[in-house]
Amino acid sequence: MITTTGLTKVYRSRGRETTALDGVDLHVRQGEVFGVIGQSGAGKSSLIRCVNLLERPTSGTVTVDGQELTALAGRGARAGKELRAARSRIGMVFQHFNLLSSRTVQDNVELPLEILGHSGADRSRRALELLDLVGLADKAKSYPGQLSGGQKQRVGIARALAGEPKVLLSDEATSALDPETTRSILQLLRDLNERLGLTVLLITHEMDVVKTVCDSAALMERGRIVESGTVSELLATPGSELAAALFPVSGDASASDRTVVDVTFHGDAATQPVISQLSRTYNIDISILGAAMDTVGGKQVGRMRIELPGRFEENVVPIGFLRERGLQVEVAATTAEEGAK
Ligand SMILES: Nc1ncnc2c1ncn2[C@@H]1O[C@H](COP(=O)(O)OP(=O)(O)OP(=O)(O)O)[C@@H](O)[C@H]1O
Ligand SMILES: [Mg+2]
Repeated sequence: MITTTGLTKVYRSRGRETTALDGVDLHVRQGEVFGVIGQSGAGKSSLIRCVNLLERPTSGTVTVDGQELTALAGRGARAGKELRAARSRIGMVFQHFNLLSSRTVQDNVELPLEILGHSGADRSRRALELLDLVGLADKAKSYPGQLSGGQKQRVGIARALAGEPKVLLSDEATSALDPETTRSILQLLRDLNERLGLTVLLITHEMDVVKTVCDSAALMERGRIVESGTVSELLATPGSELAAALFPVSGDASASDRTVVDVTFHGDAATQPVISQLSRTYNIDISILGAAMDTVGGKQVGRMRIELPGRFEENVVPIGFLRERGLQVEVAATTAEEGAK
């Protein structure tokens, strides 16, 4: 649905060059919620602004819904007709809502429809439908100043949906909100994704946001995508920084002569009661030191840190048992070396 190839963006100001994007190949599938996470300055906003051509990339291509936007003429406010039409099918939600304070909630939602040339009756019908969709039917005549942050963001989302976009881009839509409001906005984005089949590309610096709503995620560092995949694929990648950050586990061995292993659950293996099977098969007591599990699509995914009695050499068979069941097992610590010191 969204593909970028070799996307670069170099800002030039006062003789200085900043490379914000350095060859980004992004692929967002139709109907998924895709999260891009990264530290401040990693290039996340630059990426999202290049995807809808608010910012003209220095090189590379952007294709949205089969149309190569980078091939269309014009930039910024001087975008050509085709580019403006393409852009109207991409909704954008902003961190600070960007509502017009002098206009009512309804008039804010109608604004993009005015620009698209819809008639007055059509605009108000559509705006009221959208406000109903985001749970704000009763606030149509209020002004932005009379709303809470979460309500303002709902207006922002309704406005983004006015042009009936297939794609919604969100730049830190929840980072100005408290945790509970954040959850309700994320839930709304998920609902819209499911009900309207909307593809959502969101950027964030909060791992929780990715964990709550995203099907896929990418990690950005210094203008590059360093990891990317579905949550399940990331979990299946040994050493994945994103998987470790999404499902952090900790916990130390309780005594010497113990083996601590991290077991990653993803895919079909995740539904089997492997830990109890392991315990029964080898008649061993297993302690759970830590776990970060979540249910994604009805399946448990995540990581668990468990402790097995005995040193690593004594646990080769139980570890093999887990691996045979399709689980990824990494030995976090074994007290064998310490014992040898
Ligand atoms: N208009 C601009 N002119 C010059 N440099 C810019 C411009 N916009 C962004 N940059 C630079 O590009 C780099 C990436 O910025 P960007 O805003 O994309 O990062 P970000 O990941 O969104 O960060 P944050 O999490 O703080 O929003 C930074 O070094 C920034 O200073
Ligand atoms: Mg940003």
